[in-house]
Amino acid sequence: MASFRELIGGLDEAHSLPLYQQLQRGLRQAIENKALRAEDALPPERELAEEFSVSRITVRKALDGLVAEGLLTRRQGSGTFVLGRVEKNFSKLTSFTEDMLARGRAPSSVWLRKSEGTVTPEESLTMGLSPGTPVYRFSRLRFADEAPMALEYCTVPAFCLPSIEAVGSSLYVALEEAGYRPARALQRLRAVLFTSEQAQLLGAREKDAGLLVERRGFSRDGRAVEFSQSYYRGDTYDFVAELSDTETRA
Ligand code: GLP
Repeated sequence: MASFRELIGGLDEAHSLPLYQQLQRGLRQAIENKALRAEDALPPERELAEEFSVSRITVRKALDGLVAEGLLTRRQGSGTFVLGRVEKNFSKLTSFTEDMLARGRAPSSVWLRKSEGTVTPEESLTMGLSPGTPVYRFSRLRFADEAPMALEYCTVPAFCLPSIEAVGSSLYVALEEAGYRPARALQRLRAVLFTSEQAQLLGAREKDAGLLVERRGFSRDGRAVEFSQSYYRGDTYDFVAELSDTETRA
C-alpha cells in the first residue's frame, strides 16, 4: 500500500482548517473512495505523526473524530481499523458547515440565542432524557456566503460539551472535540409556511414555503446528543440524496 502521506497528501499549516481536521478529512476521503478498505489497519499514532510532521495529539484528535463518525474503530491491544460496510453510511451525517464547504460556499452564522436550562417535556420524550436533565440551547441564523439559508434551533444535553461557550462557528466541531459528535441520526423533513418572524429573519415573505428538517443525533453508545430543528428557505436549498444498493450487494 502507498504511504499514508502519498494517499492523503501533505497537510498545510497555512490552511484555515486546523491540521487535525485536514488529516481527518484526508482519511475520511481515503475511506470513502476505498483507498482504505474495511479492516485495514492504521499505522500507530506515533508513525502517522512522524509521516505528517504533526504532534501525536493532532493525530489522536483526527482519529477520535473518525471513531466518533463511525469510520474507524480502536481495538484494545491491536490498533485502529477501518470499519466495515454498515458504518460507512454514517459518513453522510454532515453538519451545516461541512455541507456548505462541500458546495464551495462560505458558511457563517448569526447567534440569536445561547441558553442553559433543563429539558422541556417534549425534548425529554424526543431525546429520551429524564426530566430535569440540564441542556444547552443554540439558536442561529445560518448563512451561505451572504445569503440566509436556515434558521436553526439545537438542543444538546449539557454532558456533551465542556461548557456552553465551547460552541464557536460549528456545533459539530465542538461536539467532535468533546467526543460526542453524532454517529447516527434520525431525520424528518416536513414542508412548512414561514411565520412573519421566521420570514423576516430569513429574508423571505410570510407564508413562503420552507422546509423543516428535524434531526435526532445519537452518540456511538446510543445516547441522544442532539435534537435540532432547521428551517430552510425553500427557494435556496435543495436536498439531494444519493441512493445506492451496493451495501447489500458488496
Ligand atoms: C445541520 C443539521 C443539524 C446540526 C448542524 C450542525 O444543520 N441539520 O442537526 O446541528 O448541521 O452544524 P454546524 O456544525 O455547522 O453547527
